[in-house]
Amino acid sequence: MAIAQVLALSSSTSSFVRTDRPKVRRAAPSRVAAAAAGATVGEPARRLVAAFDPAIPLASAVTPPSEWYTDPEFLRLELDRVFLRGWQAVGHIGQVKNPNDFFSGRLGNVEFVICRDAHGKLHAFHNVCRHHASLLACGSGQKTCFQCPYHGWTYGLDGALLKATRISGIKNFNKNDFGLLPIKVATWGPFVLARFDNFAQDTVDDVVGDEWLGSASDLLSRNGIDTSLPHICRREYIIECNWKVFCDNYLDGGYHVPYAHGALASGLQLQSYETLTYERVSVQRCESAPAEQEDIDRLGTKAIYAFVYPNFMINRYGPWMDTNLAVPLDATRCKVVFDYFLDESLLDDQDFIDQSLKDSEQVQIEDIALCEGVQKGLESPAYGVAIVSIRRLFIDRRL
Ligand code: FES
Ligand SMILES: [Fe+2]
Repeated sequence: MAIAQVLALSSSTSSFVRTDRPKVRRAAPSRVAAAAAGATVGEPARRLVAAFDPAIPLASAVTPPSEWYTDPEFLRLELDRVFLRGWQAVGHIGQVKNPNDFFSGRLGNVEFVICRDAHGKLHAFHNVCRHHASLLACGSGQKTCFQCPYHGWTYGLDGALLKATRISGIKNFNKNDFGLLPIKVATWGPFVLARFDNFAQDTVDDVVGDEWLGSASDLLSRNGIDTSLPHICRREYIIECNWKVFCDNYLDGGYHVPYAHGALASGLQLQSYETLTYERVSVQRCESAPAEQEDIDRLGTKAIYAFVYPNFMINRYGPWMDTNLAVPLDATRCKVVFDYFLDESLLDDQDFIDQSLKDSEQVQIEDIALCEGVQKGLESPAYGVAIVSIRRLFIDRRL
């Protein structure tokens, strides 16, 4: 389902305040509970949601209004209604492969840390010290415990408070009440997922199955999106555009490719471009043109571009897979994290790797320029809404 549709449907309810407010553990931070309750969403954002009608057929539809891409209040609504509900991709399993591995991250105002304890069990927590709110873990790496840099409270990788320094004299202090607040975590294939809407239980289902990808899960598994590909590298881009501008660009059904990506277009058979839609996933597929003799065969015979609601993209082509995670930083800025994975047989071919990454980088540079240009246009008084490209026809055919 499109982001626009989810928000528009949400607006039809009489209130944005949730009725399924989770039970809060003793001494849980009140702002976590407030954010989970969606209590901060204001009237202007509701009006912006109501300004878009997702029921209009594509042929006569217009895009959401430009304020959806520029208004800070609207981003707060998205964080509450879109990002803090359901599974979100947060990383890949190579980042927590071994006991004591961890990585930290941020989504909206939620600071989180994902770790694997000494027994190999995966955990996720709010990365906030229960004493006085300091962030605990920083970056990624290996740790046997998390020690707060402020006053030294120390937590195990299972979230338990192990040591609270010099707190004698505090009445009825019980360490068990001050463990790290858990977040649900799971994996699907090579990806680590978290959900931030129910922090009351430390659940760890190792695998989410179809819950994340719905009926597209099987299709993606069958098309080589799996754990067999080693991780090669990560690239991060800060882009001066709303996170949805990047996603829209990805989802335009190849419309911009022949104009904006000359080199890429020459490697694709664009007449074969097609889009399949599922509940939470959109899959674009295109066959590749045979590589010229002097070119490297980066694209193989076909490319699959899977968009997973709301902000995760999985690209599988030839021996490569790369993923793009578009993380909102503020209303007009996002960070896009690219992770590259490669078939094991090519791990020693450094020239192939270097040239492939260079070609991919060229596409990213072209897309960044497009997205930043669009963002400036969206902020201009000359623009309000646009037509939806009918090129984005949905073809009901399975891969
Ligand atoms: S804030 Fe962490 S120990 Fe004080
Ligand atoms: Fe592009």
